[in-house]
Amino acid sequence: MRGFITDPSAPSGLRLTEDLPEPEPAEDEFLLGLRAYAINPGEALLISQRPTDWRPGQDVAGVVLRAARDGSGPPEGARVAAILDWAGWAERVPVPTRWATVLDDGVSFEQAATLPIAGLTALRALRAGGAVLGRRVLITGATGGVGQFAVQLAAASGAHVTALVSGPDRVAEARELGAHDVVTTLDGPDLAPFHLVLDGIGGETLTKAVRRLVPGGTVALYGGSGGPANLHIGDFYASGLGARIVSVFGPLPEDTKGEDIGLLAGLVADGRLTPKIGWRGDWTSTQDAFAALAARDYRGKAVLTVQGTDCPVLDKWV
Ligand SMILES: NC(=O)c1ccc[n+]([C@@H]2O[C@H](COP(=O)([O-])OP(=O)(O)OC[C@H]3O[C@@H](n4cnc5c(N)ncnc54)[C@H](OP(=O)(O)O)[C@@H]3O)[C@@H](O)[C@H]2O)c1
Repeated sequence: MRGFITDPSAPSGLRLTEDLPEPEPAEDEFLLGLRAYAINPGEALLISQRPTDWRPGQDVAGVVLRAARDGSGPPEGARVAAILDWAGWAERVPVPTRWATVLDDGVSFEQAATLPIAGLTALRALRAGGAVLGRRVLITGATGGVGQFAVQLAAASGAHVTALVSGPDRVAEARELGAHDVVTTLDGPDLAPFHLVLDGIGGETLTKAVRRLVPGGTVALYGGSGGPANLHIGDFYASGLGARIVSVFGPLPEDTKGEDIGLLAGLVADGRLTPKIGWRGDWTSTQDAFAALAARDYRGKAVLTVQGTDCPVLDKWV
C-alpha cells in the first residue's frame, strides 16, 4: 500500500513508499479510503523530529471502505472527515469512529480536509473567551490556516472582529473573511482594547496583544510561529486585574473532536464557513506543499488529493 513516511534524506523529510502493510482496524475503527488531506505547521516540526519511517498525517477526508466491527460510527460508503494523531497519509487508514464525522454531500473532500486541526483550534480558541456577541475580538495571523477560520467563526458569533495581518497585501483577503477592521500593526494609539485575542504568533505580537486587553480579558494562545514572548507583569497594567493567557490545543478535549469537526462541517454545508484553500496538489506533491508552507507562499490551507486507487467504493466518488 502507498503512503508517506519520514526520510531525512528526501525533500521536506518525506518519501512516498509502496511498501506499507495493509491496515488492521481495531473493533471501534473503520477503514477509510483516503481522498484528501491538509498539512499543518506542527506536522513539519514532527516530521523533522521523528525517526526515519515514521508515518505523519492528521487531517483526512475520504470514504468509509469498511464500517467498524463494534457497530459504531459511519456505514460503508459514507463520506467522512477525521482527525488522527499520525499515519493518515496512506491509501487506506484505520480511523477511530469517535474522531470522525459524516459529511453533507455539499462539502467537498478538499474543504473537509482543512477542518480538523485548523478548524478545531480556531473553534476551541474562540470558546475560551465565552460569549463574544458585540465584543471586540482580535485575530492575529488572520489569513493563516487557523486565523482564516477564527475570523469567520468570530464574525459569525457576532463579535466585532479586528484582523492583524502581516502586510498590506493581506488586507483585502482579511476583509473578505468578514473582519470589520484590519490592521498591520498593534502599535497604533487608536486601537481600542479587546475582550478576546486569538494568537498563534507569540513573540512580540503576544506581548503587545496582552497590553491591548480589557480588564479580565483573555488571550487564547495556540501557537508561536513568531518565537517566544518576553512578558512582564507591567504588560498587564493596562488590563488591570484578572487578564489571562489560556493555552489551546485544537485536538483537546479528545472525546468531542469528532463532534466538533461535525459542527464545522455543518457550517461549511450551510455556507456560513468557507475554508480558504491557497495551495492545491496531487498527493505526490506533498513535499512541495511543505516547501510552500515553510516559505509562507500561500494563505489559508494547503490541500492534497489522492487519485488513482482502483477501489470500486472509491471510484464512485472520483
Ligand atoms: N495548539 C494547536 O493545537 C495548534 C493547531 C494549529 C496550529 N498551531 C500553531 O499555530 C501557529 C499558526 O498555525 P497556522 O496553521 O495558522 O499556520 P499558517 O497557516 O502558517 O499561518 C500563520 C499565520 O501567521 C502569520 N505569521 C507567521 N509568522 C509570523 C510572524 N513571525 N510575524 C507575523 N505574522 C506571522 C502568517 O502570515 P503570512 O500571511 O505573512 O504568512 C499567517 O497568517 C503555528 O505555530 C502552528 O504550529 C497550533
